[in-house]
Amino acid sequence: MIDIHNHMLPAVDDGAKNNVVALSMLKEAVRQGVEHLVLTPHLYEVDIIKGTGEWKAKIEAGKRTIRELIETHELPVEITVAAEVRYQDMLPIILEELDVLIGGKYLLLEFAFHSVPNNIERIIYDITRKGITPIIAHPERIKPWQRDPKMLEELINMGCPTQLDIGSFLGKLGPSSEALANFLLERDAVHLVGSDSHNIDSRALYAKPGYDWISERYDVEYADLLLKINPGKILNGEPVEVYPVHLEPGILSLKDKIMNMFKS
Ligand SMILES: [Fe+2]
Repeated sequence: MIDIHNHMLPAVDDGAKNNVVALSMLKEAVRQGVEHLVLTPHLYEVDIIKGTGEWKAKIEAGKRTIRELIETHELPVEITVAAEVRYQDMLPIILEELDVLIGGKYLLLEFAFHSVPNNIERIIYDITRKGITPIIAHPERIKPWQRDPKMLEELINMGCPTQLDIGSFLGKLGPSSEALANFLLERDAVHLVGSDSHNIDSRALYAKPGYDWISERYDVEYADLLLKINPGKILNGEPVEVYPVHLEPGILSLKDKIMNMFKS
């Protein structure tokens, strides 16, 4: 398996806080059968407000550490370092100065949980015009899309692959994330799933349970597509098939809607 989204790079973001945690996470990934980890630390505007130098230094240090851990403990896992980029005004600078793409072509892009920009289609269009394909990170956790999944339709139909967090469909990230994750999985509106693992307890890595869940609920082919085939294509910068979808509104249960009202 390939884990396309996690926070194992030590001492960069709110993920692995030190080498000990990073090593535990690496060992757990190997134990579950992950052969390649795409390390995607959060990159917020605040990280580069004074320039990109500090970020580059943190990434280089984290990369050195993780390579040493893999070598010292002889762990059979490969790594690629990218980033989970929060949408921000600094995006052009990020794309110009930092090495954040996966496979030289894909950008793991996340939006704020409580709001998405009104001109999101334009934003996506501007990114794709540069030859970059945004991967929409954990759409099932974004409140406006939980309330109205139809808003996601256009982004997928513009060719953006979506990446679900495994914790969402396993029910570890709340009922609203679980409901939208299931809705999207049922409609073939999911192209990748990732662990989005941050640590070894509250946000642990559930790659194998995620693979097994999809295999049992759907079939092995779907699990392979989301955890092996599509992530492999992305690592190689190859195109991923993103078919047009129809995400009709109003699918969330009344219970989910009421819960969303209280949360927002
Ligand atoms: Fe993440």
